[in-house]
Amino acid sequence: MLVIVKDTYEEMSKEAAKIVADRLRKKPNLVLGLATGSTPLGLYKELIRMHKTDGLDFSKVTTFNLDEYIGLPPSHDQSYHYFMWENLFKHINVDPRFVHIPDGMATDIDAFCQWYEDEIKRAGGIDLQILGIGANGHIAFNEPGSSLGSRTRIKTLTKKTIEDNARFFPRKEDVPRYAITMGIGTIMDAKEVILLANGKNKADAVKAAVEGPITAMVPASMLQMHRKATIIVDKEAGAKLTGEFENYG
Ligand code: GLP
Repeated sequence: MLVIVKDTYEEMSKEAAKIVADRLRKKPNLVLGLATGSTPLGLYKELIRMHKTDGLDFSKVTTFNLDEYIGLPPSHDQSYHYFMWENLFKHINVDPRFVHIPDGMATDIDAFCQWYEDEIKRAGGIDLQILGIGANGHIAFNEPGSSLGSRTRIKTLTKKTIEDNARFFPRKEDVPRYAITMGIGTIMDAKEVILLANGKNKADAVKAAVEGPITAMVPASMLQMHRKATIIVDKEAGAKLTGEFENYG
């Protein structure tokens, strides 16, 4: 695992954007795994800037999002569909036919999850997966206790995640209880992974993921087994790390 500690959120976001742009220039038909949440917003802003000013081309890219709330239609302003179009897709030249986001309104959820897994395979697998991390160590919606080999499926959100995400909804009761999420096994199959974390709220989760034991109770700790994982954090999120990590560039 390569751990990079940057001084600020902006530097963290730019470092991640540099890697995405590099992989995209080397492989124009990159298969990109994408995340939602507040963490990757700076990365998406920088990718939009690169598209607008440097001509970074997304026209051949295929995307797969990690997760989606069950019961929220794409038009709902807290759905991950809405988030992705507002914060990234509508500002770049991605081909809508190549965009994949789990369908939170699917009537047969199991069949949908299998189809999603098959689509990833048909695309040749995910080349680069972007991840955030929950304060309880979750990745996507793989909450503590998730099987480390899990595939795309339905998950119940924990109380902690519902509380953390309540800030985006009018009332806590409005936060959906269930989500469709790629599994930890699905994420581990990505050829490369970048996990981003910022702010002191994430310091314990980052410490546990990077320096703790590999355990289903901290789903992100499974990345210690990944062949090409880069953890990019700001100073606050990296504050509890005791190892000596690089801050280069
Ligand atoms: C959500 C998402 C995760 C995300 C996490 C952290 O629950 N399902 O993919 O990484 O929360 O969100 P934030 O970046 O807003 O802290």
